[in-house]
Amino acid sequence: MMNFRISSPEQYEVTYRRSVEDPEGFWDQIAKEYHWFEPWHKTLEWEFYTPSVKWFIGGKTNITYNCLDRHLKKRGNKLALIWEPNDPKEKFVRLTYRELYERVNQYANVLKRNGIKKGDRVAIYMPMIPELAIAVLACARIGAVHSVVFAGFSAVSLADRIKDAGAVAVLTSDGLNRGAKQIPVKRVVDEAIAMGCDTVKRVIVTERLGWAVNMVEGRDVWLHEELQHVGKECPPEPMDSEDMLFILYTSGSTGKPKGVVHTVGGYMVYAGYTFLNAFQYEESDVFWCTADVGWITGHTYLIYGPLLNGATTLMFEGVPTYPDAGRFWQVIDKYGVNIFYTAPTAIRSLMAAGLDHVLSYSLDSLRVLGSVGEPINEEAWNWYHIHVGKERCPVIDTWWQTETGGIMISALAGISKLKPAHAGQPLPGIQPVLLDADGREIEGNDVEGYLCIKHPWPSMLRTTFGDHERCRQTYFSAFKGYYFTGDGARRDENGLYRIIGRVDDVINVSGHRFGTAEIENAINLCKKVVESAVVGYPHEIKGQGIYAFVVTAEPVTNPDLVEAEIIESVVAAIGKIARPDKIQFVSGLPKTRSGKIMRRILRKVAEGDISNLGDTTTLLDPAVVDEIIEGAKTVK
Ligand code: WTA
Repeated sequence: MMNFRISSPEQYEVTYRRSVEDPEGFWDQIAKEYHWFEPWHKTLEWEFYTPSVKWFIGGKTNITYNCLDRHLKKRGNKLALIWEPNDPKEKFVRLTYRELYERVNQYANVLKRNGIKKGDRVAIYMPMIPELAIAVLACARIGAVHSVVFAGFSAVSLADRIKDAGAVAVLTSDGLNRGAKQIPVKRVVDEAIAMGCDTVKRVIVTERLGWAVNMVEGRDVWLHEELQHVGKECPPEPMDSEDMLFILYTSGSTGKPKGVVHTVGGYMVYAGYTFLNAFQYEESDVFWCTADVGWITGHTYLIYGPLLNGATTLMFEGVPTYPDAGRFWQVIDKYGVNIFYTAPTAIRSLMAAGLDHVLSYSLDSLRVLGSVGEPINEEAWNWYHIHVGKERCPVIDTWWQTETGGIMISALAGISKLKPAHAGQPLPGIQPVLLDADGREIEGNDVEGYLCIKHPWPSMLRTTFGDHERCRQTYFSAFKGYYFTGDGARRDENGLYRIIGRVDDVINVSGHRFGTAEIENAINLCKKVVESAVVGYPHEIKGQGIYAFVVTAEPVTNPDLVEAEIIESVVAAIGKIARPDKIQFVSGLPKTRSGKIMRRILRKVAEGDISNLGDTTTLLDPAVVDEIIEGAKTVK
């Protein structure tokens, strides 16, 4: 892999050009760096209408062979996984490549012993403990399709996902720790299965809290008991490049969740390549991605990307604010983390907790910082850069999606020029375009449009599980012949991309279009503001008005004054036409557990229609909704 490191801006230019002129030759060469049991006979076949995309056709491999076996000789004693528990006083875990290899092989044998075979879907509903990563890899080892469901989802959401995938087994734990709370995970699994998940024949339970849980005779088994009966070696199943590796459900804003399908060969090639190049990983680095494995970021950059490169990956069970808001920084110092990858929402919340927490740690080991999941506003970017990175670490703003499998647009750390709030340039092999409403490509720079991708890349989604038509409809029907991301973006005068946000969140005020994120960015520039969310609401004269929900650092004593300051920020950043019509001060925003703001709810509140708020069970803090509804009554 190391042969494919890009180490200068010039090399990026040359590599990028080559990847566009000869995509197949380009990926062919990179794919050969991995171990394949049988070579592919054709690199790519594709069309974006049905759609149908196949990479490395006929090739046979196993991603765990490339994550584990391949490293044993050179890196057997190197740390593969460091696990930091929720409670800083509890003992941490370190697994070398050899140890992780053994644990994965044993778990894979447990799966086999319980009748799980290649092609079977396996739901994983587990806390952030080593067994979660081991379970994921064990599935991949035997060719079972993992479907990780974030362990904060409700029983209903879990049941929906189990049913949609037709999962034959659920891998879980007795309970989990999250900050000061303990949550009965197994009970949620039992409730979910009781909701008609008839396909589930086995539940394998890892002991985490030592709780006595209900075990259903003939269905449920303890992992530690099963491990007594299995051998140490489990040969990796030879997988076709286009065999399914995993399903990951995305919380679509409406309707039932979509199961995004990724396949073995292409996902592997792209995960490894992007990890190396975006973060500029080096052999001795300790890499920490704070995302939960329940999200795509945890799949690609906590597990697969680092292990494909023989890296040391850190997994953290807890939350950024437990026992206090210095926890991230404490963990970085404790293990000498070199590359740190987190989400803007986390950065902003730690920003609000005050500088003291971050200033009590040295953070000397840090070399690269990354951001993912949502647009990072300038203020958060600067805070991260100055106070965490001490102005010495590049901050890469990585744009990608569950559907893209890996980072698509990002600076290469330390190589590309950085511009706050801009993701930057496409990675080699990625051909983004901006389209106008009629589907025409917008040429040149300093332009804005619908962000689409015009050529396949190895780790793109292949289908939505069980419903290929939905995949076509969602991603390939808006603009014929393109993959549509659902995001709007701007290409600045130097060709750097800035993600404006989901186009489903576009507000049209007096015929002017604004990205909600763009306005939020402007509002957040106001020093008193920690975070904000903007939605449109029907406005008699303008068509749509702008409604801003604003979280401030200090309680607001003089709302008129703060409002004036916010408006000033917006006017300065965008112009008078983007001035919020209504501002409501709130103590928090309704967020999903992955940190995404649930705009659907805010839009309803802004519209004054709270009769049907829809499902709020996936919110981090459902109580915040009541507060917002109450507060809205007094907004002028
Ligand atoms: C948004 C997360 C701006 C975007 C990897 C995308 C971002 C959606 C960024 C995918 C970023 C992700 N800047 N927006 N750096 N990264 N997004 O599937 O709207 O959870 O379409 O994947 O998050 O979210 P998902």
